[in-house]
Amino acid sequence: MKMKNLKLVDPTPDLEADFCEMAAEWREAGENKFKDCFSDFALYVKSLAKQKEAKELLPNRVPGSTYWLVTDDLRIVGTSRLRHWLVPHLEKEGGHIGYDIRPSERKKGYGIAILSLTLAKARGLGLKEVIVTCDSDNVGSLLITEKNGGQHISTAVSDRTGKQVNRYKIVL
Ligand SMILES: CC(C)(COP(=O)(O)OP(=O)(O)OC[C@H]1O[C@@H](n2cnc3c(N)ncnc32)[C@H](O)[C@@H]1OP(=O)(O)O)[C@@H](O)C(=O)NCCC(=O)NCCS
Repeated sequence: MKMKNLKLVDPTPDLEADFCEMAAEWREAGENKFKDCFSDFALYVKSLAKQKEAKELLPNRVPGSTYWLVTDDLRIVGTSRLRHWLVPHLEKEGGHIGYDIRPSERKKGYGIAILSLTLAKARGLGLKEVIVTCDSDNVGSLLITEKNGGQHISTAVSDRTGKQVNRYKIVL
């Protein structure tokens, strides 16, 4: 497939309609990332911007940047989150980067692209390497990590699900 031009953008209220369509797709797929679309979308976007700040952090929380992967026709095909540093529970599971591709756009290479573009943002923050973790039964995520230079460092057992989690290092 020829991939459309892609950009990783900061969340913006301008893309509310498409974001809400994507959230509906996730709900229909049983991936309840958002219970409903947001009654005040602009406030939601502001709350994401606030998460980048390092002040007034709750214990065990770290600042994080959220990005949306957008095609040149302004369709959001996925979201990613980049944690600016890690605390012990994230070292074990969660790592620096998480991402999701909308169900109707999967298996088109967007997963590989969103991790690659988020790694570039991590480089921009000055990170020299990142930890990425994947459930060991998540074949897509394992392939995406390996295709982005992931080196397997260990396997942990999730405190949350009891499942095996593969931990990777990616040198930037
Ligand atoms: C995992 C996920 C991000 C994959 O996104 P995607 O856009 O389909 O991934 P890509 O199209 O870039 O696929 C990358 C590779 O994985 C393979 N792949 C993707 N999903 C797969 C699946 N469910 N089973 C087997 N292989 C899969 C693709 O065929 C491709 O392999 P290839 O390059 O050898 O052809 C997507 O399914 C998703 O959002 N899942 C829910 C959230 C999640 O698991 N996030 C990752 C953990 S942080």
